[in-house]
Amino acid sequence: MRADIALLPGDGIGPEVTAAAVEVLRAVGARHGHDFRFDSFDIGGIAIDRHGEPLPQATLDGCKAADAVLLGAVGGPKWSDPNARVRPEQGLLAIRRALGLYANLRPVRPHAATIGASPIKPHLLAGVDLLVVRELTGGIYFGDKTRDAEGASDRCYYSVAEVERVMRRACTLARARRGHVTSVDKANVLETSRLWRDVATRIVRDEFPDITLEHQLVDSMAMHLIARPRAYDVVVTENMFGDILTDEASMLAGSLGLLPSASLGEGTVGLYEPIHGSAPDIAGKGVANPYGTILSAALLLRHSLGMAQEAACIEDAVDAALSDGAFTADLASDGRAMGTAEATLAVLSRID
Ligand code: NAI
Ligand code: MG
Repeated sequence: MRADIALLPGDGIGPEVTAAAVEVLRAVGARHGHDFRFDSFDIGGIAIDRHGEPLPQATLDGCKAADAVLLGAVGGPKWSDPNARVRPEQGLLAIRRALGLYANLRPVRPHAATIGASPIKPHLLAGVDLLVVRELTGGIYFGDKTRDAEGASDRCYYSVAEVERVMRRACTLARARRGHVTSVDKANVLETSRLWRDVATRIVRDEFPDITLEHQLVDSMAMHLIARPRAYDVVVTENMFGDILTDEASMLAGSLGLLPSASLGEGTVGLYEPIHGSAPDIAGKGVANPYGTILSAALLLRHSLGMAQEAACIEDAVDAALSDGAFTADLASDGRAMGTAEATLAVLSRID
């Protein structure tokens, strides 16, 4: 099968980790008889430097024409002036919105070999396998903002349709897993959360009777996520709660550098990126952990190209590399760390 993949390397370590993922995709393509074509476009700081804007039209057009988008990271000290007219992060928000990517999936599955890198007690982490589904294009982040001398406001709004579509996505994903959905809200205080809870209850009752649904308030969920992470399968929540809970959940895995994400809409063009940023402190040194981006490429194969077997092939290769101690500096405790290229080779040599 032929597939066109738009590459948005971005800033900092973005180009280093996306190059690693491309090597792995090429290897898997060769092994399974697929023709993956890659086209690179500018986004973020580099796009501001070259085109004066963080999301040039050519980038957006290239992404829309592709089957899937693989992104590195954007931002860095060079573009961090808070008073600047254009900022790299605007490119990211704009592309998510332009592609209608309302569901952000962040799987968290601590690997036995890296559990020691987490600040959480190992016995709590064994067997953890959860998937956070964060609503990505609604809620308070996208509501009207006001500011005057007396104060400021951010409006939080959710339509029924926005909650329905992300709930259906979460339930569909849960069906292919353990069939359990935890919906997180603040229904004791917020009207948008009462709507969220009503819609969640109705969608599961009418359309997914095989799914078990549990409601959690976001504050107690923050506690349970650390105290009993094994109890969760799919966790679905609104934009801001999801932003906060997914950063917390990333600590279960041990390193930011390990975690992939997928952002999906109604179409098949999904956007795939590691959850970490551009890591300017280590950019250009060849030491960045490429696994989060390589695992994002696996999600790309599964969710945008329907290649479940090829996706599993990448995930198994990363698992095997980690089991054999192929650690980058963020994971290694004994000072014997691999660089990005060596860690990528460790994965490539385990693609069967
Ligand atoms: P960051 O995720 O870039 O880095 C946090 C820490 O984790 C740093 O010490 C970094 O060296 C380390 N780290 C991150 N990824 C790593 C990897 N793959 N391997 C090894 N170590 C890794 O977050 P930070 O420092 O808050 O932000 C840096 C820049 O990235 C900022 O401009 C920020 O706005 C941007 N950013 C972009 C994101 C994106 O493009 N999706 C997400 C988060 C931040
Ligand atoms: Mg965040």
